[in-house]
Amino acid sequence: MHITLRIWRQTNPAGPGRLVTYELSDVTEDMSLLEVLDLLNLQLARNGEEPIAFDSDCREGICGSCGLQINGRPHGPLKGVASCQIHMRTFKENDTITIEPFRAKAFPVVKDLVIDRTAFDRIIQAGGFISVNTGGAPDANAIPIPKNTVDAAFEAAACISCGACVAACKNASAMLFVAAKVAHLGRLPQGEVERKERCLSMVAQMDAEKFGACSNTYACEAECPKEISVDNIAFLNRELLRAKVF
Ligand code: FES
Repeated sequence: MHITLRIWRQTNPAGPGRLVTYELSDVTEDMSLLEVLDLLNLQLARNGEEPIAFDSDCREGICGSCGLQINGRPHGPLKGVASCQIHMRTFKENDTITIEPFRAKAFPVVKDLVIDRTAFDRIIQAGGFISVNTGGAPDANAIPIPKNTVDAAFEAAACISCGACVAACKNASAMLFVAAKVAHLGRLPQGEVERKERCLSMVAQMDAEKFGACSNTYACEAECPKEISVDNIAFLNRELLRAKVF
């Protein structure tokens, strides 16, 4: 199939960026979008041109590296999938696909489609962990936890920290990301001990990174490749109130 790609090219964080158009004819519908970028990069390299910089690792929706704004939407037109899981059968012959980096002040562009998401790392460093000794897996399995609690924690733990929630939000809020981490750890007995400090520290770091306030539009939930529920934001707000009052 033939497709036209419009791709954001930017040589460095300070430089101006622009959309550059590329025509590709030897694309098959079974190719993933990232494989199409690989194909284009091969052609660019053969022509002595600079390949397009983009992030990827697992290419199966697990690691969260591949955040791309595809035709104006974080991770593209399909629901519940990451950019690496988009295949060309999603598009039609002669379609034009516009690919840009996620846009947010807290995620500056490094080069082309690569953004700096270390703001998320610093939020995790602020409290997104359990530092008490929780024993081995058999010990964890010996702790009785209600099924609905486990399910809610597991659903929150599905967050892959890709940043689509930030890119989708008109305020570039990281509330869904922080809420997923706080809910994942805070709902379980292993995370109970540090519950208060975790919530306060992660929210303080989120604010320090200049993410915006929650816009209450649910755009984050709609675009999240793991379909993390905004119910977790309600959980985070309750946790924050509890941590400040008690
Ligand atoms: S490359 Fe890992 S989620 Fe896409």
